[in-house]
Amino acid sequence: MKHRLAPITLALTLLVATAHAQQQPLAPTGRWAHQGVGSAPTPPMGWSSWNAFHMDLTEQRVLDSAQVIVDTGLATAGYRNINIDDGWWRQRRASDGRMQVRTNLFPSAGTGGAAGTSLRPFTDKIHAMGLKAGLYSDIGRNACSQAYNTDSPNLPEGSQAEREVGLMDNFERDIALYFGDWNFDFIKVDGCGLSSYGKDRPPVTSGRFREFGPTVVEGNANQSDMDGARALYGRVTQALRSVRPRGDYVLSVCLWGAANVRSWGAEVGTMWRTSRDIAPSFSQMLHNFDTVATREFYAGPGRWNDPDMLEIGNGEFDGSHLLEARAHMGLWAIVAAPLMIGTDLSKASPALIDVLKAPEVVAINQDPAGNQGVLAYADSDRQILVKTLADGRKAVLLFNRTGSPAKFTLTAEHMKMDATAPIALRDAWARADAGTFTDKREFELKPREALLFTATGKRLLPRGYFVSERPGNVYVARDGIRALEQDPIVYRALASWATTDNGGTRPAYAGWGAPRADSTPYDQALSVQRQAFRHGIGALADSRLQVQVPAGSQRFVARVGVDDSTRGKSAAVSFEVWGDGRRLAATAPAKFNQPARELSTDLRGVKLIELIARQHGADTTGPVVVTWGDARIE
Ligand code: GLA
Repeated sequence: MKHRLAPITLALTLLVATAHAQQQPLAPTGRWAHQGVGSAPTPPMGWSSWNAFHMDLTEQRVLDSAQVIVDTGLATAGYRNINIDDGWWRQRRASDGRMQVRTNLFPSAGTGGAAGTSLRPFTDKIHAMGLKAGLYSDIGRNACSQAYNTDSPNLPEGSQAEREVGLMDNFERDIALYFGDWNFDFIKVDGCGLSSYGKDRPPVTSGRFREFGPTVVEGNANQSDMDGARALYGRVTQALRSVRPRGDYVLSVCLWGAANVRSWGAEVGTMWRTSRDIAPSFSQMLHNFDTVATREFYAGPGRWNDPDMLEIGNGEFDGSHLLEARAHMGLWAIVAAPLMIGTDLSKASPALIDVLKAPEVVAINQDPAGNQGVLAYADSDRQILVKTLADGRKAVLLFNRTGSPAKFTLTAEHMKMDATAPIALRDAWARADAGTFTDKREFELKPREALLFTATGKRLLPRGYFVSERPGNVYVARDGIRALEQDPIVYRALASWATTDNGGTRPAYAGWGAPRADSTPYDQALSVQRQAFRHGIGALADSRLQVQVPAGSQRFVARVGVDDSTRGKSAAVSFEVWGDGRRLAATAPAKFNQPARELSTDLRGVKLIELIARQHGADTTGPVVVTWGDARIE
């Protein structure tokens, strides 16, 4: 999306808001709250036309890339969704509202007859290749291209009503057409119709488009109608559920991290964009990556944070930048991001195809446990992320974000492994063993390099695991955030379409204060009355986390208290553990600077626990930060 942040909007980004209404209550339900939208047990993989061709999309170009996907084995590697992005539509037919396809671009759609045009011949071809087909629409009346690609010859045509190609007012009709008659498997639903058609915006002042809202303001969650946006996406979810009751579809919510979608995307979509559009530059890639890196508790099987499509093959990630291409791929793999190729594959070198196809890297991304990698170490220059795999191994990524070589020390503790036992590393790119060490190992990384390993060792916990090791088993039913704040630790890259003729690139994404693995919600080390916890969960008071409990588990144990970094120092907090809707254990209320207390309970036969931190009384000094130190399931 381009030119979307007016300077005035940028100036308004630091904000305080009232509680967001979609928060579920603190009362435990005993039922896993994530209902699931569509079907994507592992992150969706495929190819999309946008980063490769933008508005110069043609059926032939899509089919050419699809053919490369089959011929090179990328399909076998898992890249199966072939997605048409913006630019495919001609108009909504005046007589009956049926969408018409741009047949100069999609010749096979010119079927004639009562339907006029149809993308069914296209999806039939894609399906015959053993692939799946994806389409693009907008949640509002008009699309992004109509606001931002005004020179394109491929924009919708006709009267104002005919050019209203988005889903609004047509949810059921369009979804029935796309997933019924046309047989698509995947849809990306963009949000420009909600954000870019306010009365002062060029598409509207030109007199060519109907005014709407804006109900979503990028970079300003206060000015966004979160509940309204969520309800509209909910209409798409509903329409999909009725056309595809078996759940065989993917709904990709494209709201660029706006309107606090990072917190509610899983309620209405299979995956949701956490940031503005990626661009083929390293700094923009860092920005997009950062918008998911601290959101580990929001992803899991069937629900995925989406830092946007891959730029591998383009710009700073092209065939002469294989090190950067591998870094981009490794980062998307370790955070379990959807892998959508965004390059013209007919021009991609075998070396680039190998980056995309790398079997052990893809396997880390597609691991069935669906855990997003957790930051085990971070400064502004270096990061270490660790992802727990289904078989108990760890995937570990070391990332040098800078333009200079950087030294790293990887420790057993980073991987929650025993420092006295040998740890065997395997290089996921080289697909070769990379040596064994105990306790710690030194590395020197090249500028912008990311190393990716799998590690096998003895677990730090002889029995069971820390809850923070398996974020895919956790669902944030209530985050405890009362006043929306923008996440200040996302790298502030200048957007490719922006300039510096304003006050600066400000933090742009709400959700700061959400629960974190091995960190407080405000990115501090966990600590209760000076007792430090390297492992645990940080959250705000008045939060409720659901945790799936594997069969055979016996106990939940944690040391709990108000964290030393709390902003609110006066209110007391009690900690409760509920199992399948029954209260299992609780602490008396405690305040800042009181010692951590042990909370321990029998879990035999329990399938779901809910961890509740309940605040007693208001705290005028600020949000109360709590720590579930060493929270573990044994
Ligand atoms: C928005 C989206 C992009 C792409 C374009 C198409 O900017 O975020 O991913 O779909 O629209 O116009």
